[in-house]
Amino acid sequence: MAKKRIDQVDVEGMRVLMRVDFNVPLDDDRQITDDRRIRMALTSIRSVLDRGGRLVLMSHLGRPKGEGFQPEFSLAPVAERLGELVAPAPVALAHDVVGEDAQAKVAALNPGEIVLLENLRFEPGEKKGDPAFARKLAAFGDIYCNDAFGTCHRLDASMVAVPEAMEGKPRVVGFLVAKEIQYLHDTIADPQRPFVAILGGAKVSDKINVIRNLLGKCDRVLIGGAMAYTFYLAQGGQVGKSLVEPDKVDLAKELLEMGGERLVLPLDVHCGDDFRPDCEKKIVPAGQIPDGFEGLDIGPETAKHFAKIIAEAKTVVWNGPMGVFEMPPFDAGTRAVAEAIAESDCISIVGGGDSAAAIEQFGLADRVTHVSTGGGASLAMLEGKPFRAVELLDDA
Ligand code: 3PG
Repeated sequence: MAKKRIDQVDVEGMRVLMRVDFNVPLDDDRQITDDRRIRMALTSIRSVLDRGGRLVLMSHLGRPKGEGFQPEFSLAPVAERLGELVAPAPVALAHDVVGEDAQAKVAALNPGEIVLLENLRFEPGEKKGDPAFARKLAAFGDIYCNDAFGTCHRLDASMVAVPEAMEGKPRVVGFLVAKEIQYLHDTIADPQRPFVAILGGAKVSDKINVIRNLLGKCDRVLIGGAMAYTFYLAQGGQVGKSLVEPDKVDLAKELLEMGGERLVLPLDVHCGDDFRPDCEKKIVPAGQIPDGFEGLDIGPETAKHFAKIIAEAKTVVWNGPMGVFEMPPFDAGTRAVAEAIAESDCISIVGGGDSAAAIEQFGLADRVTHVSTGGGASLAMLEGKPFRAVELLDDA
């Protein structure tokens, strides 16, 4: 999916309207706890500023309901952090999205400067994809750039109706979106083999379409996390009081049949009698979780087995933890998978959300080829879903 990138258009003197995903986590004091999404957009931002472009940035933060300004959802902490990262370039935060303040700040924008509009979701038109709202945003740009990978699976106005309203003007991707597509789409469409997927997380229902899509492309799909217990149930195994989805057992059977030997389940399970680090623990064979115990991680035999398969792979994609990685000792399986991926010289792609958090927590993020900034978006791309927000942009 080769799309024209921001560095392939002349931006000198132009107003570039760039959709970014600055939906970053904040603590109770509204301090940013992880600024990765802001840092990952800097290449595109600098590309515009360094070539004399005027930059209008737009993002959402959280899920306000389109009822106007709410201080707890303001992009103020983001504007401050961005200002530190792009200094000495000035960053002005507009106090509204398309109102008088935004209009005045955009009109006063000089080359090499940034205006960040307030949270797009303060406006009801954003989630509705409202064309009238989109036209107001579109009027702020001579060029549209989408560098908001985390939101590319959404049909929000800033993602679809705005570039539609800017037809005839250059509509391009940023460096971040280009890189995410390169790995989560292009590499997976034509992988170096063996191609191995490792899928974890709590629910089969969250990952059905990813498992289906990847079973059609991968040499092996390794299953970990709580969703493995629903597969054990489908095989007639014992799951104790593990988290399972009884209504997904038929589906698990169908996936087992479809996958055959390519679908690899854990060989053993690390379980506990309670969801606490100091609970009574047992390592038991697959499908033999005793009553009163719940599976909380893959066991050591599985970790070794998965590591061996990963070591032989040429392309690896990983989405979802193997166990409760936030609670040692049940982080061991996720850590073993992360280390095996880091040690391998394969092309390694880590989906966003929990697996990205895990690889960061283990200090291994710079030893994998690509860590996605998208949670829902990376899952949707691994499901093989079409992305309207990207498809409508100019081809390279
Ligand atoms: C995300 O964090 O996954 C994106 O920013 C999209 O947010 P949303 O799920 O609220 O649309």
